[in-house]
Amino acid sequence: MEFNNYQKTVDCIREKDSRHEERKLVIVLGSGWGPAVDALMEVEGEVAYEDLPGFPVSTVAGHFGRLLWGDFAGVPIYCMQGRFHYYEGYSMAEITFPVRVFAALGIECMFLTNAAGGLNPDFSVGDLMMIHDHMNFMGNNPLIGPNFDEFGPRFPDMTSAWDKELQSCLESCAKEADVLLQKGIYMAVSGPSFETPAEICAFATLGADAVGMSTVPECIVAQHCGMRVTGISCITNLAAHIGGEKLSHEDVSKAAKHSLANVIALLYRAIPCMHEIL
Ligand code: HPA
Repeated sequence: MEFNNYQKTVDCIREKDSRHEERKLVIVLGSGWGPAVDALMEVEGEVAYEDLPGFPVSTVAGHFGRLLWGDFAGVPIYCMQGRFHYYEGYSMAEITFPVRVFAALGIECMFLTNAAGGLNPDFSVGDLMMIHDHMNFMGNNPLIGPNFDEFGPRFPDMTSAWDKELQSCLESCAKEADVLLQKGIYMAVSGPSFETPAEICAFATLGADAVGMSTVPECIVAQHCGMRVTGISCITNLAAHIGGEKLSHEDVSKAAKHSLANVIALLYRAIPCMHEIL
């Protein structure tokens, strides 16, 4: 991946979005998070990923992805509707390409959302979990390869990969909105197979509270670029073994719908609150 590739994409977005300088935050939507944005965002413009130079080209049938910009609860933001997953066959460099584009655009904060399986026995389906920290079990790291010194150091610190101040903001907004916001450690695996009961036991023993197939590569690259990162998982199922039932992708999609009202109430407060402190 050439460093210049990022600049081409940045130039393209700047050209299309006349208010690009006002935006400080990008939200990346995971499975089931789309409807909240439909409800709260006044879209000013959009571009399909396939029309953005340098963005990975979709090889998956029915793949849908676009970048939106507009006001979310009155705050100018970008929104990635659809992300690239490692299990789809994209490289780590492809998955995280957009992160560096946003960093080069001047975006300061990345808000990552996803669907995840709950490991913590105190969690219920439909709960929202603020990501307090992560464990990378994807078997790869997006920073492997030549380091782009323009973006960050060879060995970036991960002590505060998940921004404490943004977490406080999420917690106070959840309280205000009377939304239960769990807090936990997100374990990232490659997928696409769901976990075996033995894996679930092992991950829970290690201290993970939820398991999913995304988010961590983006967080690592964002941290490398000096962006502030925060995120929420929607617990769409209790991971195999705990729930005792077989899992399907449809279950995951269905469950995400149940938490919609909470997601809306939380984001309506949280996005403006975060924008204030950036
Ligand atoms: N495991 C991994 N990824 C997931 C799950 C799960 O149980 N649910 C939603 N994404």
